Amino acid sequence: MDVKEHIKKLKAERNAVILAHYYQSLEVQDVADQVGDSYALAKMAQSARQEVIVLCGVRFMAESAKILNPDKTVYLPASAAGCPMADMIEPDDVIKLREQYPDAAVVCYVNSSAAVKAVSDICCTSSSAERIVRSLPQRQVIFVPDQNLGSYVAKLVPDKEIILFPGYCPTHHRIAAADAETARNEHPNAKILAHPECREEVLEYADYIGSTAGILEQACNSKEKELIIGTEMGIVEILQRKLPDKRIYSLKSALICPNMKKTKLEHIERCLEGKADPVELTAEEMEGARLSLERMVSV
Ligand code: 13P
Ligand code: SF4
Repeated sequence: MDVKEHIKKLKAERNAVILAHYYQSLEVQDVADQVGDSYALAKMAQSARQEVIVLCGVRFMAESAKILNPDKTVYLPASAAGCPMADMIEPDDVIKLREQYPDAAVVCYVNSSAAVKAVSDICCTSSSAERIVRSLPQRQVIFVPDQNLGSYVAKLVPDKEIILFPGYCPTHHRIAAADAETARNEHPNAKILAHPECREEVLEYADYIGSTAGILEQACNSKEKELIIGTEMGIVEILQRKLPDKRIYSLKSALICPNMKKTKLEHIERCLEGKADPVELTAEEMEGARLSLERMVSV
């Protein structure tokens, strides 16, 4: 039996749902029941009724799914798929910042470990960061771990004092202002749509800044014939498939998140066959991180 057919059959037998992030390969997205940005995936996982959730993404996404829906069996198909930005911060870093700024709230980007979420007050995603920061009563906000998303939010919410941590996404941080300048010169009629994980000086060139879902929506509703996309190649591929009449360019060549591309159909098949280990977290991590994640979902 072909692997796609086998996944479909196993999915029904195990009462499973397959959720995928937009950066996953198109063949993985094609076997998924739903595809979304990290905020949508967290909500889908929280409300999933199936017994098994196969989360095709990186580790923090699968951990968030487990924390928000702890009675389910959650699999991360490519077990080595981490997020290098999430690995840039430890709980101790947050604890030290809290000691330095005792009046500040701690907002933690979901691209972080469960242990870091557990020592934070509330989580956010790129699509909810501004709303979350605005919702806080504290004037001082420690924002971890993404310095670029943090400084983007600081500009949008000037009445807050945002204390940044020097983390970054290696894929987005690689884009320099010179790349944006080159892209603009090569395609002067194109609009630039960029993810807030890009550097501040790159975002200055953007006509639209938003999460992966935001960029997709903006591109699909745009009347422009040419668009330059400042995020991972997965979004470029989806748009090229969805909008064949438009010219879709990448802000920089080979903008690939290697971890997101680790998921293969065979990994999904192994999870559904019960041959892979489900996501497990300690009771302490689950409880601490749950509060921060649930606060995010409820804002
Ligand atoms: P989104 O929240 O836009 O899905 O982004 C997740 C991510 O990891 C971007 O690098
Ligand atoms: Fe992490 Fe960047 Fe990959 Fe997103 S694109 S998962 S932030 S490394």
